[in-house]
Amino acid sequence: MRAIRGATTIEKDCAEDIRAAVAELLGAIQEKNALAPEDIICILLSNTSDIVSYYPAKAAREAGFSFCALYSSAEPAITGSLRLCIRVMVLADGDVAPKHIYLRGAANLRKDLHKFAVALDGPSGSGKSTAAKLLAKELNVLYLDTGAMYRACALKALKDGVPFTDGAVEALTPSIDLRIVYENGAQHTYLDGKDVSEEIRRPEVSMAASKISAFSCIREKMVDMQRKIAAEQSCVLDGRDIGTVVLPNAEFKFFITADAATRAQRRGKELAEKGFAVDLEKLQKEIEERDRNDSTRSNSPLRRAEDAVLVDTSDMTIDEVVSYIRKKIQEKV
Ligand code: DC
Repeated sequence: MRAIRGATTIEKDCAEDIRAAVAELLGAIQEKNALAPEDIICILLSNTSDIVSYYPAKAAREAGFSFCALYSSAEPAITGSLRLCIRVMVLADGDVAPKHIYLRGAANLRKDLHKFAVALDGPSGSGKSTAAKLLAKELNVLYLDTGAMYRACALKALKDGVPFTDGAVEALTPSIDLRIVYENGAQHTYLDGKDVSEEIRRPEVSMAASKISAFSCIREKMVDMQRKIAAEQSCVLDGRDIGTVVLPNAEFKFFITADAATRAQRRGKELAEKGFAVDLEKLQKEIEERDRNDSTRSNSPLRRAEDAVLVDTSDMTIDEVVSYIRKKIQEKV
């Protein structure tokens, strides 16, 4: 007897998708293992806990596999497991080596077995940091907000009254005491031993971060820290140059964008929620100016890596963005 394994994923939890995915998976297992119906003893199916709308065993019967014993069960909800996934084990007569079948990206993104990085680059307000945070949570890996690091450098310069000139920034760089610490799963940015995670979100720090991030001495220091963090664990990183400079070999790369008006509205909403006064027109101008700074600087400008998937989020909800990225990752694994 042999045990043949297989798995597939669906896009939506609905009967139609489950029927199609199960028929495709069992069909492929049967074909690739040259199984005649009388060879199959039983088919055991399981599904992740986010599939509730249809029994995979029923879908198997409807696909014509009613000549053998069928069984399906739900798996426990485990953080970080692949979502919307159906797994199968087919027990069959014969002693030929089994050909296991994994379709639609249903291989495991197991961070314990395999270290990976997801690079999300794009301009500010594109939704990349919200998407990155949610994605990292789903994949149960670390989220590194690299913008926060440049913001902390900018805060240091503002606090010390350092002008943004080559000599002054070069003299300042070695004294920047920056630490990224994770508390209850959330990133905290410490500058000179003080948690500045809130302070670096101030609007004046945004513009200063865009300016200071153009200096190569600052970039070298930050990129070095980012690479060290990414070398130690699987993570999702967001920034401007992750896919092009920091981790050019990242397994998954995305370039997240949206039109300037949409981005200004999003940033405005965020700032208003934090109690800052918001002038949308001014905000859009500032965003456009930061875009210009970030994409025209000679040092690691904001640009899409050739192998990055472009995601225009102008007309997408955050859930749609995350599920699109997840789908692209699943297609590739
Ligand atoms: O993503 P953010 O708005 O927090 O980033 C603040 C600034 O830092 C942004 O204007 C450009 C810069 N930045 C960068 O140059 N490279 C990165 N990897 C991340 C941010």
